[in-house]
Amino acid sequence: MVEEKSINLTKVDEIINSYEGKKTNLIAILQKVQELYSYLPMEAMTYIGTKMEGLSPATVYGVATFYAQFSLEPKGKYVIKMCDGTACHVRGSMPVYNSVISRFNLKNGKYTTEDGMFSVETVSCLGACGLAPVVVINEQVYPKMTTDAMKVILDDIIKQERE
Ligand code: FES
Repeated sequence: MVEEKSINLTKVDEIINSYEGKKTNLIAILQKVQELYSYLPMEAMTYIGTKMEGLSPATVYGVATFYAQFSLEPKGKYVIKMCDGTACHVRGSMPVYNSVISRFNLKNGKYTTEDGMFSVETVSCLGACGLAPVVVINEQVYPKMTTDAMKVILDDIIKQERE
């Protein structure tokens, strides 16, 4: 199980204040908090719901779960985004995705490895269809991906992490 990061509520406060604590800015506030932690920690959502006028923790949680852009689970150190837009799908994104899922033995809706090293997710078109199938690992874009290339890339990351 991936540990929740410890939460700096002063930073969450700064974000709330930068949006003047207005509940109409809740989505923007949640986006900023997610940028900070790469997911929405429960502690931060509860804090926002308690601190901001006109909201409750349940409302904030409801909003966060409604929008697919928000993640409520801590993510791995490496977030592997597999494009499954039409061009990537047609050019074989799913075999690459399945090879990663099976390598890390991810099942039953689990998308992060036990050691917290990798998270795997599918995303819609990344706007680089000429390079399909496209994979993004953290900020790095990998074009024309194959299962073999993916294996080499993951082997490299794992090797680097062990050094
Ligand atoms: S469909 Fe994958 S980049 Fe457009």
